[in-house]
Amino acid sequence: MCGIVGAVSSHDVVQTLIQGLQRLEYRGYDSCGVAVHATDAGRTRLRRVRGVSRVADLKRQCEQELLHGHSGIAHTRWATHGAPALANAHPHVSCGPDRADAPPQPARVTLVHNGIIENHESLQAELAGQGYPFSSQTDTEAIVHLIDHLYQGDLLAAVQAAVKRLRGSYSIAVIHVSEPGRLVAARQGSPLVLGVGHDEHFVSSDALALAGVTDQIVYLEEGDVVDVHATGFQAFDGADRPVTHPVHTVPAMGGAVELGPYRHYMQKEIFEQPRAVADTLGGIEAVGASLFAGSSGASTEDAQRILEDTRSVLILACGTSYYAGCVAQYWLEGLAGLPCRVEIASEYRYRDSVPDPRTLVVTISQSGETADTLAALRHARALGMENSLTVCNVPTSAMVRECKLAFLTRAGMEIGVASTKAFTTQLVGLFLLTLALAQARGRLSVEQEQQHLKALRHLPLALQSVLALEPQIMAWAEQFTLRDHALFLGRGLHYPIAQEGALKLKEISYIHAEAYAAGELKHGPLALVTEEMPVVVVAPGDALLEKLKSNMQEVRARGGVLYALADANTRIASADHLHVIRMPEHYGLLSPILHVVPLQLLAYHTAIARGTDIDKPRNLAKSVTVE
Ligand code: M6R
Repeated sequence: MCGIVGAVSSHDVVQTLIQGLQRLEYRGYDSCGVAVHATDAGRTRLRRVRGVSRVADLKRQCEQELLHGHSGIAHTRWATHGAPALANAHPHVSCGPDRADAPPQPARVTLVHNGIIENHESLQAELAGQGYPFSSQTDTEAIVHLIDHLYQGDLLAAVQAAVKRLRGSYSIAVIHVSEPGRLVAARQGSPLVLGVGHDEHFVSSDALALAGVTDQIVYLEEGDVVDVHATGFQAFDGADRPVTHPVHTVPAMGGAVELGPYRHYMQKEIFEQPRAVADTLGGIEAVGASLFAGSSGASTEDAQRILEDTRSVLILACGTSYYAGCVAQYWLEGLAGLPCRVEIASEYRYRDSVPDPRTLVVTISQSGETADTLAALRHARALGMENSLTVCNVPTSAMVRECKLAFLTRAGMEIGVASTKAFTTQLVGLFLLTLALAQARGRLSVEQEQQHLKALRHLPLALQSVLALEPQIMAWAEQFTLRDHALFLGRGLHYPIAQEGALKLKEISYIHAEAYAAGELKHGPLALVTEEMPVVVVAPGDALLEKLKSNMQEVRARGGVLYALADANTRIASADHLHVIRMPEHYGLLSPILHVVPLQLLAYHTAIARGTDIDKPRNLAKSVTVE
């Protein structure tokens, strides 16, 4: 997704800007650029360099063109309005309105933007009427011309006036040729942080981009505009009143982005799961409200009151995090006896629904910045559901700041676009939440609590033995490589695991994959089954196994080829058209946490054989900060 970095310093900022972009690269982008206040022979002008390739190429270009400056902005773009092309790459510039009687003017304002401006067409029509030329297909160009149009010698005033005319979501960073050493930034609906250094200040869409230059971070609020100089900054709220926000010290994140001995981040992250789960469980001796207090600023008493007050649960999430929520629904209804709804965040936020004030709203998000999930949370709150809890991997994210309670997964930074260790650690957090809610409702004895904790603590070892199945999975992957379609089946707790397996395969190998609740097969998808379409079945030895076996027979009887992930309790043996991998042990309610791992590996090895860009699959981004 798009990334912003800006800097104002007493020394050259080009390298800092480029390094910041490099730290944001993992999110996915298709073009990039940088612009600075450059001084030649005592004259300041705006210079920019843009490219439609990697940040490394942009860096080379900046070196060749001797780009230097003490204040500047930089951007990685993930196309929304307009194709990935140089003309659409940021920073965008305004040279003022065209004048028939004058030669083209040098740039006066330059700007980078994340988000989507919904009223860009009307702004564009208005500004074109004033003579402003539009040379890109982006919604962003309207903002830079608008700021130029409103500029009367003070960039802060121009930006404050301009943002009042914008509809939609944005974070922007702007510099003006007449004000070297000054940068103005603003945010609404898209993340932006400010970094405090010694005689230098920074802005970025993610604190991670600033790792290495500062760990002193200010989280800007919705509607804020911030005036940034090398020696200080001042933030203003949406009504232009000066505001003060606390400066947070964020933990260093530098080492987490190293690839180490692995070929891809996805591979590294799959193999990190035993450690990630162990860290997520680290030090948990008992189930209780304290697990969800603290990181969000709430007291244990507040958390306890919320858990006891809960009469139903509404889970909001997207993508892989949504499937984690679907697994949790089985746990929450089965163990805690609470009605639970799981909703795709982008659907929930726009549909009429019936709120219940005693609902606990649970958001699940690796990044904590997913625009749809944040918007769905705010929508639920606006409907009167005040109690919220997030299961999130980024302690400093908007999601953690906006929810009353939080469970922090300790997966460590996840770089691969395909989410893996975030998912398994989310499931751990959601299981602990289920136990805490069951306890608050008097449905969990001390013996049961200890048994569940024991099973959770054994997960890292169990995950290690599942990872040892990799050679068998690679053999399966070879057979998937030439296929165009695949079907994934599961029942009960493992239906969402089948869905997650299909999502993993399609997003990184580009094989079309669909998941069905196995009982649904005969209601339509069975028509698709041929020898050409592998059918993966998640088949643990649980109460639904016999039903699932009947569904598998339906596939075999029609010449389909089955790939079954069985376990120690399952009496299924390999046969013609039936390939079986046996998981080392049967894991009861926690089995989804193990069964998903072979599916991650299957997607990974199939994608390797197909030669796709595994960590940055086409068209996708890591953190989806636009709706
Ligand atoms: O950061 P989040 O967990 O909120 O992200 C949600 C989805 O965008 C994410 O899980 C996405 O589906 C992944 N690419 C799946 O691997």
